[in-house]
Amino acid sequence: MNKTIFDFNNEKCTSEEKIAGVTDEKCLEVFRIEYLGKKGMVAAMYANLGALPNDQKPEEGKKINEFRAIVTQLIEEKKKELNAKKRRASQKTLDVSIPGVAQQAGHAHILTQTIDEICAIFERLGFGIQDGPEIETEFNNFTALNIPADHPSRDGFDTFYLKQPDPDDKKVNLLLRSHTSPAQIRIMKENKPPLAVVVPGKVYRPDAVDASHSFMFHQIEGLLVDHDVKFSDLKGLLTVFLKQLFGEKIKMRFRPHFFPFTEPSAEVDISCYICSGKGCSVCGRKGWLEIMGCGTVHPKVFEAVGYKKGKYTGLAFGLGVERLAMLKHGISDIRLFYENDLRFLNQF
Ligand code: PHE
Repeated sequence: MNKTIFDFNNEKCTSEEKIAGVTDEKCLEVFRIEYLGKKGMVAAMYANLGALPNDQKPEEGKKINEFRAIVTQLIEEKKKELNAKKRRASQKTLDVSIPGVAQQAGHAHILTQTIDEICAIFERLGFGIQDGPEIETEFNNFTALNIPADHPSRDGFDTFYLKQPDPDDKKVNLLLRSHTSPAQIRIMKENKPPLAVVVPGKVYRPDAVDASHSFMFHQIEGLLVDHDVKFSDLKGLLTVFLKQLFGEKIKMRFRPHFFPFTEPSAEVDISCYICSGKGCSVCGRKGWLEIMGCGTVHPKVFEAVGYKKGKYTGLAFGLGVERLAMLKHGISDIRLFYENDLRFLNQF
């Protein structure tokens, strides 16, 4: 039936408008009673019919029937609509109009951020980034680096030695690397100079855990090998690096030191970020904080990787990532890096 043709004192229009506002079964029942109930509008129309002259009764009656049919149809359609809605709700179908639930995005750990930042500086200076295994041979970790067999760091108390896969194989002793320097050996063995790489990664030492020590921490090794590399190149390189990391005003000093795999060797200190060099409890009243070891590559190391004697020169450095991150951000306890406490991690 065409609903739009019918007009009964404009009631068609109002009934359609009214039913559009019906949103649940209760409302629909109120609507039905209002129109089709015993005391409803249609019943009243039929009651009024009796008062009309006889010749008008058939036509008026027909109009009322049509009106009742339209209202009945409107109710049926609404019922179907409400049922469908109910079904949809019970099936929990996807409602694409509902605003999405925002996912909490994570972010890189402060140590990863620090490693990325340091590596990015060296990348800009032309260095490549490599990695090396955390399980190393005793040869790469010590022997090839000119660390003598009686050196205290080779002691079982200072290194995590691993059970040998083959107990009869006396040649290959495995350990968790105690520094990233064995990566120097691997890289030099696998590549020919000129070389310029940094190697970030985890290292392991059986230290008792306290505010500044952990049995696992991160280092970044640097290695540059070419002809005619001098100690002044090392100084220039590390000066540029530290100024980029800590700002132009940072003060630094190269203090003579000893490493078996570099000669000459130095440790690099920066002026204490807390007291600006005046001396405080963080720097042990010295005004300086040690941040890395470095030097020009020892000829014995070139010999161990099979480079021709006197052909190449190089520089190497190794820095502690946790230490640098602690200095840069004023973090007072190394254990905070590993506890996964979001109250700490979300600050960076
Ligand atoms: N491997 C040294 C350490 O862990 C640091 C270092 C690296 C020193 C390279 C000199 C050259 O202390």
